Amino acid sequence: MVGRWVLIYLLVLYIDKVFSSQDVVTVDGVTGGSVILPCIYTDEVIKTEDLTVYWRLNDSMVVYEHVSDGTGYKPDPQFENRTRMFPEMYSTGNFSLSLGNVSITDGGLYSCFILPVNVEKKIELRATEAPAEKTDRDDRNSSVKIGPVSSLLLFLMLLFRHIVLFM
Ligand SMILES: *[C@@H]1O[C@H](CO)[C@@H](O)[C@H](O)[C@H]1NC(C)=O
Ligand SMILES: *[C@@H]1O[C@H](CO)[C@@H](O)[C@H](O)[C@H]1NC(C)=O
Ligand SMILES: *[C@@H]1O[C@H](CO)[C@@H](O)[C@H](O)[C@H]1NC(C)=O
Ligand SMILES: *[C@@H]1O[C@H](CO)[C@@H](O)[C@H](O)[C@H]1NC(C)=O
Repeated sequence: MVGRWVLIYLLVLYIDKVFSSQDVVTVDGVTGGSVILPCIYTDEVIKTEDLTVYWRLNDSMVVYEHVSDGTGYKPDPQFENRTRMFPEMYSTGNFSLSLGNVSITDGGLYSCFILPVNVEKKIELRATEAPAEKTDRDDRNSSVKIGPVSSLLLFLMLLFRHIVLFM
């Protein structure tokens, strides 16, 4: 009986952990470098002619808009001529954005809205000062949290032990 409650408790902890860590992907950028803000959606295929993607910073500033018929909002001057998406990747569900010449003021929470499927991905850009002498180095370090996988393993291990102990 106690074992069962422990199991339920672990399950709740696990679900909580998966949902909170999947929410935001963190990307590190240095001033003058470029970063790729990942936005991947592969659950369904979206036809290129139906594709609309809005990129925003802190929910308000227009970073980039891809609208299939070309009628998107212009980006905020802060992002003019520094962004691009990768049309050759759309068919694979990759709607990532490249941002060049990163500055400290670019730091914040980016959202990628994929309109046809009503999905929003969040990416936190942490912009830091490049070390002196290396200002124009291309820096693409990005770290994607892999918490869910390791916590799933842990959960399965605990579940297995529980079954062995109580059988
Ligand atoms: C962006 O590029 C256009 C065309 O080359 C240019 O006229 C404009 O001044 C540029 N804007 C910025 C902010 O660099
Ligand atoms: C998405 O496309 C960008 C640009 O080509 C690439 O750098 C990135 O690795 C791609 N991501 C995935 C998950 O394929
Ligand atoms: C990069 O941005 C800085 C301001 O943040 C600007 O002074 C510099 O001219 C830009 N460099 C390029 C290559 O656009
Ligand atoms: C976005 O939000 C971050 C964190 O709150 C803040 O540091 C940054 O100045 C904001 N950027 C803009 C352009 O509003």
